[in-house]
Amino acid sequence: MNNFLRHWLRLALITLLFLAACRQAEPIADDSAGADSPTAETDSPAYLDPALPIEDRVEDLLARMTLAEKIGQMTLVEKGSLPPADARTRALGAVLSGGGGAPRINQPAEWLKMVTEFQEQAMATRLAIPLLYGIDAVHGHSNVVGAVLFPHNIGLGAANNVELMAQIGRVTAVETTATGIYWNYAPAVSVPRDIRWGRTYEGYSENTDLVTTLSRAYLVGLQGDDLTAVDTLIATPKHFVADGGTSWGTSTTESFQIDQGDAQIDEATLRAVHLPPYPAAIEAGARSIMISYSSWNGLKKHAHDYLINDVLKEELGFTGFVVSDWKAIDQIDPNYYTSVVAAINAGIDMNMVPSEYDLFIETLTTAVETGDVPIERIDDAVRRILTVKFELGLFERPFTDDSRLDVIGSDAHRELARQAVRESLVLLHHDGDTLPVSQETPVIFVAGEAANDIGIQSGGWSIEWQGRVGNITPGTTILDAIQSSVSADTQVNFNRFGNFERITDDNGDPLMADVGIVVVGERPYAEGVGDSNDLSLLEGDLAALERIRARSHKLVVILISGRPLIISDILPQTDALIAAWLPGTEGQGVADVLFGDYEFSGRLPYTWPRHMDQLPFDFDNLPAGGCDAPLYPFGYGLQTADTSPALLVCP
Ligand code: GLC
Repeated sequence: MNNFLRHWLRLALITLLFLAACRQAEPIADDSAGADSPTAETDSPAYLDPALPIEDRVEDLLARMTLAEKIGQMTLVEKGSLPPADARTRALGAVLSGGGGAPRINQPAEWLKMVTEFQEQAMATRLAIPLLYGIDAVHGHSNVVGAVLFPHNIGLGAANNVELMAQIGRVTAVETTATGIYWNYAPAVSVPRDIRWGRTYEGYSENTDLVTTLSRAYLVGLQGDDLTAVDTLIATPKHFVADGGTSWGTSTTESFQIDQGDAQIDEATLRAVHLPPYPAAIEAGARSIMISYSSWNGLKKHAHDYLINDVLKEELGFTGFVVSDWKAIDQIDPNYYTSVVAAINAGIDMNMVPSEYDLFIETLTTAVETGDVPIERIDDAVRRILTVKFELGLFERPFTDDSRLDVIGSDAHRELARQAVRESLVLLHHDGDTLPVSQETPVIFVAGEAANDIGIQSGGWSIEWQGRVGNITPGTTILDAIQSSVSADTQVNFNRFGNFERITDDNGDPLMADVGIVVVGERPYAEGVGDSNDLSLLEGDLAALERIRARSHKLVVILISGRPLIISDILPQTDALIAAWLPGTEGQGVADVLFGDYEFSGRLPYTWPRHMDQLPFDFDNLPAGGCDAPLYPFGYGLQTADTSPALLVCP
């Protein structure tokens, strides 16, 4: 069946459902129904007239809505907890895919089909208010198998290329909207100040200006210059505010130590270090902002009337809608009613429930009926949400056709990601003549589990929430890239453990590699699961390094990690060491620089510790040199012509 016929059949179905809903259904809630509901018999209601100013359309629609329909608009539910019909019977405002929230078959066409099914239910409601579907497309459309996974933000902070950020935002929007999703929970504009935080890699940098500049460019790329365009979506700067300013050991969530903890800082620090990305994002057109789980000096930010109402909405003039984080309002108080009242009155507009939606709806309804939450607050929240939906053009284009699915994972998009990988690499240590590695090198040994694993090089928020080791999605591993870059005469031997005993020369003696390359680092994690007070290399990686060191004339270490790791002890054994961060699917970018097609240009977006006792850094009093100084300062990075200074011997 061709697209044209399918499109008209769908419209016919929607019309029948809409007419049926108009004739049969009572308003889904109490008797405080608004003005007469629109039916086929009446003239088309004002809110459906695209010629009218958005504010008129909002007021017309709001006046028609029942309390239940208003509260439904404020309810964001995770697709895995939601029979599609409930999106209609509750008149929900939004649905999300949480990390890894894929359809049963994870491929682009199935994503579009899933999103469309929820939208069909929304469009069959009494007022046919389209759903907004949200997702964490935080380094490309990163839940979708086949999508391009860009380097995580830490690598983009090292690249520090504003134009590239805008291009990445644009491509991410193109791939995400192709699946019918018009709301991206990105960029994280965190300013991580303690790299023991499991979300360090979601931050561009410890430096406020760098975060502000890069996140603004990315947001502009996502939103384009016309929000009604089929391939633009709304960004969601997150997590407001000072999510990266919490103290170790203050988290009360599960086994987390610093994630969702307490930012024990004064207001001057909050405003100077953590706030600036938000006015920049608002000025650039941000239309939704997500609140942080964390607390500020003991008060949960999801209940923070001053921060949300006074600072974000009043002082910064934010006119979009504020969304809570996943089940975050539940953390405010042991009493759920108290939590809901506090959160909504503090300025939360859209509540990411994500599963107990009837409980939320009933609780907020009671709060309005008792007067604990004024109806004016509800109307303000719904106005904000509807305004953004009209700005997105959702009422005119609630459905997305399948004509753009082919752009997902396209060669052009992969080339952009490959460029981002190249520019993200930071050369930290170099003996002066190991790099670039010649493509004519006779014998190269490669070791390390991370050398040949798309899952490891992609990190968390990749296909699954926590990411996963293994061949999770199409891409180029670092080993693939090495093998495709060297000459036909070059012998490349790979052993993940560094075991090359059986590789012998013509005399039967152990063959020595001209160059050994070992890829070491972190295994995937996300959020507080990655909180760690031990950033040393894994034992298995150290063992592989030792083994390949013994069989290589020159040794290059490539670090795959979501943050600086403790590498002081391995430096004496290495001839070159490259921080590659979490590069995503396009490992070819690593080979491009390793073999000299491109020069290193990355610079450290985070200060690099010499040992764990230096954390958290006192950034205002960092020693300039000696064993008390960081191993490498913010902004550090070499080029292949450089030779590292002699290593300091520290206790
Ligand atoms: C998570 C994260 C947030 C994400 C949301 C939806 O817990 O804190 O960054 O956007 O839930 O997946």
